[in-house]
Amino acid sequence: MTVQHWVFGYGSLIWRVDFPYLEQQRATLHGWARRFWQGSHDHRGTPEAPGRVLTLVRERNAACVGMAYRVDDAVFAHLDYREKNGYARMALDVELAESAERVPSVVYVADEHNAAFLGPAPLDAIACHIQRSSGPSGRNADYLLELDAALRAMGVEDGHVRELARRVSMREAEARQPMTRPVTRCVSR
Ligand code: SIN
Repeated sequence: MTVQHWVFGYGSLIWRVDFPYLEQQRATLHGWARRFWQGSHDHRGTPEAPGRVLTLVRERNAACVGMAYRVDDAVFAHLDYREKNGYARMALDVELAESAERVPSVVYVADEHNAAFLGPAPLDAIACHIQRSSGPSGRNADYLLELDAALRAMGVEDGHVRELARRVSMREAEARQPMTRPVTRCVSR
């Protein structure tokens, strides 16, 4: 008999769904916020030049809206491999949008003790870092912009993601017009 679980996606698990699921539902994780504070050596960067991807941090009164999937146990072998660069499975309750029921869910969280953790930085430095980085899964900017588009399509407001997407899009527009003087400079990684 296969055992089924909910898994909650807040980053690429929202828009890059490369695993089978039995049911999908919008859900909210209370008390946590998305932050681009995790290094990526294997997807959106390299060990020499890590990208910046999402993790979750505890924040009182925050609510992270994402997507919950009901999956068979077998799916975790794939997800554990995909999320191997510093993420660990946590068991957290999420609130399903359709029933308002709170259900236990697996959430991949990269905490501050993992070796790839980068932590906070000024938004401009994060935007700059994201715009410059890429890895085996593609451009770091695409990770951010795909997520921003998916959240907007869901009607989700996430100030951290939106503001970074705005800054990275602006940098990209400037990069396409190399003759104009850049108004946004990268001061640090
Ligand atoms: C997630 O999406 O839930 C985990 C972080 C990521 O893979 O972007």
